[in-house]
Amino acid sequence: MATERTFSIIKPDATRRNLTGKINAVLEAADLRIIAQKRLHMTQAQAETFYAVHAARPFYRDLVTFMTSGPVVVQVLEGDNAVARNREVMGATDPKKADPGTIRAQFAENIEANSVHGSDSAENAAVEIAYFFAGIELVG
Ligand code: TYD
Repeated sequence: MATERTFSIIKPDATRRNLTGKINAVLEAADLRIIAQKRLHMTQAQAETFYAVHAARPFYRDLVTFMTSGPVVVQVLEGDNAVARNREVMGATDPKKADPGTIRAQFAENIEANSVHGSDSAENAAVEIAYFFAGIELVG
C-alpha cells in the first residue's frame, strides 16, 4: 500500500464543542499520522475559494457562513491510502447515514455542521494542502 497524504479540517461545530482531541484520537486510531496542524479562523474569501467547486449548489452560501462561524483546525494526515482511509473514518456526509463509530456518526450535528472535511482524491488533497500549508510545515 502506498503512503499518501490527505487534507483534513476539524470544522467550527467541533472546535466550538472542544472536540479536537477526541477527533484526533479517532484519526490516530485509524493509523493516520497528523504531520501538520494549525488552528485558524477562515475569512469569507478563503472559505469561498476553498469550496469554489460547490459554488453553484444550493447549500453553498450557508456552507461558507458556517465555515467562517468559528475557528477550524486544518491538518495534513499521512498514512497508507490516507485519502480513502480518512474518508472511511469520517463517515457519510449526512451523519444519519454514517456508519457507527465514524467521526460524523459520533460527533456531527447535521449534514452541514458535520465536524470534519476530508479530501476526496489525492489530486484534490495536493491542492488543498498547498492552499493552507507551506512545505516547511509538513513534518512527516
Ligand atoms: P460534499 O463534498 O458533498 O461532502 P463531503 O464533505 O462528505 O466530501 O459536500 C461538502 C460539504 O458541503 C459537506 O461536508 C457539508 C456541506 N453540504 C451541505 O451543507 N448540504 C448538503 O446537502 C451537502 C451535500 C453538503
